[in-house]
Amino acid sequence: MYFVANWKMFGNLKSINTLDKVVKFSKSKEIKKGRLIYCPPYTLITSFFKKFQNCLIDIGAQNCHESDDYGSQTGFINSKMLKSIGANYVILGHSENRKKGETDKLINLKIKSAIKAKLKVIFCIGETLSEKKRGKTRSILSKQIKLGLNKIKKKSNLFIAYEPVWSIGTGKIPKSKDLEQTVEFIKKNFKGKLPKILYGGSVNPKNINDLKKINNLDGFLIGGASQNPKKFIDIVKKTFN
Ligand code: PGA
Repeated sequence: MYFVANWKMFGNLKSINTLDKVVKFSKSKEIKKGRLIYCPPYTLITSFFKKFQNCLIDIGAQNCHESDDYGSQTGFINSKMLKSIGANYVILGHSENRKKGETDKLINLKIKSAIKAKLKVIFCIGETLSEKKRGKTRSILSKQIKLGLNKIKKKSNLFIAYEPVWSIGTGKIPKSKDLEQTVEFIKKNFKGKLPKILYGGSVNPKNINDLKKINNLDGFLIGGASQNPKKFIDIVKKTFN
């Protein structure tokens, strides 16, 4: 099971000290079959990389530019640059970036570039509340998958993170039956090798007991709760107990 910590726009150099607990936990037997991946802001990737050097915690970024090469792109970072500083993962298509104007087409270019750079891609999809209310969840997810993964054959380094937009940061999670059916539906969009499927949106130590029962999930993408190492560790522990 994969546990991806999405720190969003959070943290400074002092935050690194809070990770001691997680490093210790990652070396203990309690971690069982949990794989931990931290996606801090760009400013902390190198420090996290150093912190995790003697343990198996992996590092990811929260976005990247779609170009494979250096260029005149003030303020941006591409996938090769991320790979060169120790990131192995990148979150792409997050709804917080879609809201700012990232289109399916742009996300597709980013995914292609990330795969080329040998980053594992955590590709986020999810419906808004109004789309859900209008019964559009499935058509939205299919569209996001179809356009986001257009002409991408290699699925081995791909994770799909199903994150209903209405669930992110709200404390609300889908009903178990709905979530199970949606995961099943997502799987049906793929032929042959399936990507790994994560759920994200308000995952916390309280609701993990329900979420862990959902069939066919390979893990969780955790935002707010992952910024607190105790909560993050609790989520992992409870998943296996
Ligand atoms: P949340 O965020 O856990 O704070 O809801 C999840 C995410 O945005 O990836």
